[in-house]
Amino acid sequence: MSLQGPKTQEYFQRASKVIPYGVNSNFRYWGDEDTLVIRRGEGAYVWDMDDKRYIDYRLGFGPIILGHAHPQVVQAVQEAITQGVVFAWTTPLEIEVAERLCRMTGVDKVRLTNTGSEATMHALRIARAYTNREKFIKFEGCYHGQVDYFMFSTASAEKRMLGSRRSPIPAATTSGIPKDIAKYVISLPFNDFERLEETIEAQWPDIAAIFVEPVLGNAAGILPSPGYLEKIRELTEKYGIVLIFDEVKTGFRIANGGAQEYFGIQADLVTYAKAMGNGFPIAAIAGKEEVMMTIEPGAMAHGGTYSGNMAGVAAAAATLRILEEEPVIETINRRGQRLMSGIDEILTDAGIPHSVTGAPPMFSLFLGSNDAPKDFREYLSGDGDLYEEIAMELIQRGVQPDADGREPWFLCYALSEEDVDFTLNAFEDAVKAAKK
Ligand SMILES: Cc1ncc(COP(=O)(O)O)c(C=O)c1O
Repeated sequence: MSLQGPKTQEYFQRASKVIPYGVNSNFRYWGDEDTLVIRRGEGAYVWDMDDKRYIDYRLGFGPIILGHAHPQVVQAVQEAITQGVVFAWTTPLEIEVAERLCRMTGVDKVRLTNTGSEATMHALRIARAYTNREKFIKFEGCYHGQVDYFMFSTASAEKRMLGSRRSPIPAATTSGIPKDIAKYVISLPFNDFERLEETIEAQWPDIAAIFVEPVLGNAAGILPSPGYLEKIRELTEKYGIVLIFDEVKTGFRIANGGAQEYFGIQADLVTYAKAMGNGFPIAAIAGKEEVMMTIEPGAMAHGGTYSGNMAGVAAAAATLRILEEEPVIETINRRGQRLMSGIDEILTDAGIPHSVTGAPPMFSLFLGSNDAPKDFREYLSGDGDLYEEIAMELIQRGVQPDADGREPWFLCYALSEEDVDFTLNAFEDAVKAAKK
């Protein structure tokens, strides 16, 4: 059965005539019959062109931390843009956002930008300039945006592309990248202490940075094993490597201070986007004074016409203020915990081996084994097909997680206890239907 009602289908076909595959980002294409066209969103819900309502657990792939069309964020943006949008000078709102961000996350300095990909791209350049080294380590299953350097061994990779665990291959996950770029990329399995240590000891004079999603937000929310992030911190300090936490998904979501607060570890650089602006295009590169000050007019470039634009900055100022003043994460955590344990119970009763992974504001389900995956290779041995069947049954019933189990369930502040009840009931029915 297609997810598209008649109107949604009509709009999708119209879109496909002028937009490749009818979408403006490949991850949104679910095939010609299941790709939706959305009319509007409000709070925890979205409605498609046929006015079918969904409880939204995709939340635009994570940015919507408060709820769609949050009145205070909308009002802040409306007021700000009547004063103009870009001036190529600093504005008071940019200062306010930078001050809040520093206070909430413990970083010393911040530069604003517009998207997660822009932030990670700049972070890599800063790290290279700071260390005068060219290679970097990333982990299999981590996604750091649409930058050539990062499109290796992401969650789109297949197992056979990754090579042996003893000698992992940085696997390009798209055409169009010059072959030589791979020589700058060292790709490692996550949570493998031995491989990490041996790689760094052998190659540290060439390694500028380690990029890591502290929770694997593009690979089923795989968590770091106890001591693993600490090990990365210890080795990066010892060998003068810049530790970069990519907090595009975890930032302002798993805690006000993101993964740095959650795990009690300060990175050298951190990238933020998504939840920072409740859906508006705003992102940041932040970090320690010494590393951030590598950026220097005339010496080390960072720039962007729209960096600090009024729409994004007003949204961020309002969102961060609400995060600081209201129990946003606390509430989301409570609801997330109820969902995680309710789902756990339903899957146990249905006799489906599983583990619920990630953190309550962004959790995932791993089906096929009761042992949580420690790395992306283990995730790939799970039953992704069964997950997709359950997810599609759920979506038919008006509850919308991503159909791809790698993408976590995201929660927003607007999600109510009743929404959680509705979701758990629908989940129970979806599991029964999928088992048939
Ligand atoms: C961890 C992480 N880093 C970077 C990005 C890229 O962000 P954007 O899509 O805003 O360019 C994403 C996007 O999903 C992400 O999850």
